[in-house]
Amino acid sequence: MKILLFGAGGLVGKELVALYARTANEVSRPTSAEVDITKFEQVQDFVNEHKPELIINCAALTDVDKCELEEDTAYKINALGPKHIALAAREQHAKVIHLSTDYVFDGEKGEPYNEFDATQPINIYGKSKLDGEEFIKEVTDDFMIIRTAWVFGKGRGNFVDYVVDGVLKQKEITAIKDMVSSPTYAEDLAVQIKKMAETRETGIFHMANKGYGTRLEIVEEIMSLIGKPANVKVITQRQWEKPAKRPAFSALNNYHLTVLGKNEMPEWKEALKRYLKAKYKII
Ligand SMILES: NC(=O)c1ccc[n+]([C@@H]2O[C@H](COP(=O)([O-])OP(=O)(O)OC[C@H]3O[C@@H](n4cnc5c(N)ncnc54)[C@H](OP(=O)(O)O)[C@@H]3O)[C@@H](O)[C@H]2O)c1
Repeated sequence: MKILLFGAGGLVGKELVALYARTANEVSRPTSAEVDITKFEQVQDFVNEHKPELIINCAALTDVDKCELEEDTAYKINALGPKHIALAAREQHAKVIHLSTDYVFDGEKGEPYNEFDATQPINIYGKSKLDGEEFIKEVTDDFMIIRTAWVFGKGRGNFVDYVVDGVLKQKEITAIKDMVSSPTYAEDLAVQIKKMAETRETGIFHMANKGYGTRLEIVEEIMSLIGKPANVKVITQRQWEKPAKRPAFSALNNYHLTVLGKNEMPEWKEALKRYLKAKYKII
């Protein structure tokens, strides 16, 4: 299959590149310098030239605080970018798989969100990502929107790496005790995305590792896996001075996958253990 992958240099994108490299699929993966998704002509020209059957969009402005401070940039990349991709895909009859986020929810539900729950973002990142979802749904029928959460993986630095570094070098680790979501290993996510890409399914899918925890619980799990204590500064979200507010409880329930009998996402603690083994060889 001919696949076009936007955001191939990011945390999720790199895992998809590695996974598809072991297959016969032909994957084109322009950098943002080659195709800026905020520019419709650039997207259209690339799509028309390469004629993909599937476009996977992992490109986004994922820095939640930067989105809050640079609203125009957030809407351009996270909302208009997906619109451009969907328009170009429709012309070529290509399917679109678009990545989205748990931050489309307000965090007030108190239990994991499924695909039928009402969205209500509380920051610009979440709003701009939700607008991206809406554009995809408006423009094309042939789409899968995949919402994931708190991703960790080898592709770039992330919260898990920050904690491992703190434990190994005995540096202070700041851990928020009242923010909950579903930590998700990029490698597991890539495997599940590829499996779903091989089906004819459409619609919105939550795709996170099973279970959920606070940032503090992630720190505790990492300390326990490494077998070393660390200097942990426990704070509340209120004490964490950041431009953007985060939802308090945005864990995801992979309900759509589950009812289809296709939820193969492993449990997050088991995924975390595999990641520490693969990247740090310390357990
Ligand atoms: N990371 C998480 O914890 C998390 C959680 C929930 C949902 N998600 C969603 O998952 C998806 C992937 O996230 P990620 O963490 O893998 O992203 P990431 O590591 O931050 O990488 C973002 C990618 O987007 C590309 N990009 C940015 N602006 C672009 C533009 N104007 N044109 C073309 N490409 C552009 C970047 O390309 P260059 O490097 O070439 O500029 C980069 O490859 C996103 O939709 C995100 O919202 C992520």
